[in-house]
Amino acid sequence: MDAQGRPLVIVSNRGPVSFRRADDGALVARRGGGGLVSGLAPLVADSGVVWIASALSEDDRAAAAEGSVQAEGFRLEFVLHDPDVLRMAYDVVGNAVLWFVHHGLFELARRPRFDRGFREAWAAFVTYNRSFADAVVAGAPADAVVLVQDYHLSLMAPMVVDRRPDLSLVHFAHTPFGGPELLNVLPDPYRRELLEGLAANAACGFHTDRWRRRFVASCEEFGVPAPPTFASSLAPDPEDLAGVADGPAAAEWRERFAQRFAGLQVIVRVDRIELSKNILRGFWAYEELLERWPEYRGTVCFMASVYPSREGLAEYLAYRQEIEHLVERINQRFGTATWTPIVLETADDFPRSVALLGRYDVLLVNPVSDGMNLVAKEGPLVNRHDGVLVLSTETGAWEELREVALGVHPCDVSATAEALAEALSLSAAERRARADRLVAAAGARTPRHWLHDQLAAVTSR
Ligand code: G6P
Repeated sequence: MDAQGRPLVIVSNRGPVSFRRADDGALVARRGGGGLVSGLAPLVADSGVVWIASALSEDDRAAAAEGSVQAEGFRLEFVLHDPDVLRMAYDVVGNAVLWFVHHGLFELARRPRFDRGFREAWAAFVTYNRSFADAVVAGAPADAVVLVQDYHLSLMAPMVVDRRPDLSLVHFAHTPFGGPELLNVLPDPYRRELLEGLAANAACGFHTDRWRRRFVASCEEFGVPAPPTFASSLAPDPEDLAGVADGPAAAEWRERFAQRFAGLQVIVRVDRIELSKNILRGFWAYEELLERWPEYRGTVCFMASVYPSREGLAEYLAYRQEIEHLVERINQRFGTATWTPIVLETADDFPRSVALLGRYDVLLVNPVSDGMNLVAKEGPLVNRHDGVLVLSTETGAWEELREVALGVHPCDVSATAEALAEALSLSAAERRARADRLVAAAGARTPRHWLHDQLAAVTSR
């Protein structure tokens, strides 16, 4: 894979594979999850592309100790960070501040707090970005196009461009971009460093024009000349998905779900346990559904496959507990000897999630804010029940699926309950017609289009 003859390098915090020690002590590579990896991996595996990523665990570090790693068709260059630097850069700056800024998650009464601890963490974030820059400077082939993925690497470009003027860097944001109002919570010099860091790329890409405009508006508002920008949405790889859906592990789960949900309508969600995913309001909406439409008691089941994420942050641990308590409360309130209203699964198992997406009657995707949300596209592509999609208007996916999904404002719990009720009551013919259009809209683009757009942003200039 190259860009008009130019070699390609991908840079991201989380790489395409992670390592784990097997019982016999050997290090075993496992392909990672997440949209970026499932989208890009099939395109670039076995192509000689260099992928530069953080060694995130002790086992990754052990695998990296021998230099560049070949696994699952990738040539992976692990960046080794001091563990404290990694924790501060990833948890304190990346996850607890930049992620919150871009998704508008701060409740300003208490946070953010830019104190001495944060200054130290920001210095670690600079160091972390510099380590990536050094890896790119040392490891990128001459004249390469370097695809820099996501907010963790916002500061990297200025640390590369002077040392390697032959390279073209494209930064792609998988999050929404916080516009001027959201960025206003970041004091200078953090905000300026962030915008200048992004602006030093040859181009900056976003999933939708809405996020792209917010970035340009932020540059204007805070006096940083904006670089060339583009909007290009990511989509799942249909062949990759079909491979999982048709595989033995998913088939086994399908069998189990068929028995478990016989005679029931099934509402499904599949998410990381992530504050922006709005999991609590989804359950409150379901509770309101059961209150207002008692006919769904005993005839519907909500299966939530939500798996732990970023557990280094207290907010995420607390969020998980709140979810578990809420589910328990709703199950106690409405459950009977023969019916459990909500089934909560917290193991991260991709074939099981794919089998579940095959089974839903209603898929609930209601994030507070989301750069794209690939589940909203994966669901329709693998569903076998003419399922209906209830989708937050604050996702990137909404831009492409608005004609074929039932839209909800993520904070409007009552409207979400009403959308669930509407979805559950559609006739078979209506569901069929909708599902066909959903499949067409969700499958309109593939990761190849997205990769092409990133390369075009620099090679066509
Ligand atoms: C989002 C981000 C990615 C990130 C993924 C998983 O999709 O945009 O950059 O990799 O979440 O989060 P994690 O913190 O586990 O890498």
